[in-house]
Amino acid sequence: MTIKKNRSPEYYRDQIFSLTTLPTLPIIATEILRASREDNLSVSQLLPIMEKDPPLAMKVLKIANSAYYGMRTDVKSLRHAIVIIGMRELSNIAFSFSVIKELSHDIGGYNLNWKQFWKHSVACGYVAQLVVEGLEYPTQTSFYTLGLLHDIGKLVLYRIDPECYIESFELANNKRCSSFVAEKEVFGVTHSDVGMWIAERWKMTEEVINAIGYHHHPEKISDYRFKVCVSLLQIADMVCNFKSINFGTEYDSSIPQSEDGWKILQNEFKRLDGVDFESFVSGLEDELETIKKMVDLLQT
Ligand SMILES: [Fe+2]
Ligand SMILES: [Fe+2]
Repeated sequence: MTIKKNRSPEYYRDQIFSLTTLPTLPIIATEILRASREDNLSVSQLLPIMEKDPPLAMKVLKIANSAYYGMRTDVKSLRHAIVIIGMRELSNIAFSFSVIKELSHDIGGYNLNWKQFWKHSVACGYVAQLVVEGLEYPTQTSFYTLGLLHDIGKLVLYRIDPECYIESFELANNKRCSSFVAEKEVFGVTHSDVGMWIAERWKMTEEVINAIGYHHHPEKISDYRFKVCVSLLQIADMVCNFKSINFGTEYDSSIPQSEDGWKILQNEFKRLDGVDFESFVSGLEDELETIKKMVDLLQT
């Protein structure tokens, strides 16, 4: 289906809510999200969910047996794998695996590197989780999920109209501008708008919907309850771009000294007062290496 360029935002929003060809959030991912919202995710909750998906169970066993976990004997059961990997890590792996598998279905052609898209998304999930923990920000929201899904609008724009999406991709390269600006010019809407609508369609929480919708412009968020959440997401995204784990143009990788998300966080967290973004990233160097390894592991 081809949509004519530069239609009104309402037009795209209606399309997103009515198109049956758009991806749905896999049932397994929804179940994991629901289970992880309860305070203590347990083995008995996660095990039956994963057993329903043999390729996922195989992947988990493969990861538990990888050099990363350094086990001397073979890990043969899922229960054992859960103990080794840990509950939270495992729910992250299972969530990404099911989302990536479902949403990557049938997106060939046009030579876009979707593997790199998912690499950026998974890394952003881990970095968001890391930043939130480092700043001891109290939250019920899974920042991993938020990071994984923050750019999902790019995939949806591509699915709605691949040719227009390629045009915006090339425009960003030629004009040396961000994908956000190029999408606005070609489609009249951006991946943040589209991501927000798809998150609404998937009935995600208000915080997730708002954070996805404003991750490039936290200062524009109208509901102030979410300004810290969206700024944390923006910074996680920028850390990934800064470390060249990016998708799209390199012009997305700016240093956010003057970015509003960074200012919001500096006001909110005393430990960031007077710290510049580059020193903040250098402080995360070891953890970022671990994250890179985990991202590679998920992709093999
Ligand atoms: Fe984005
Ligand atoms: Fe991003």
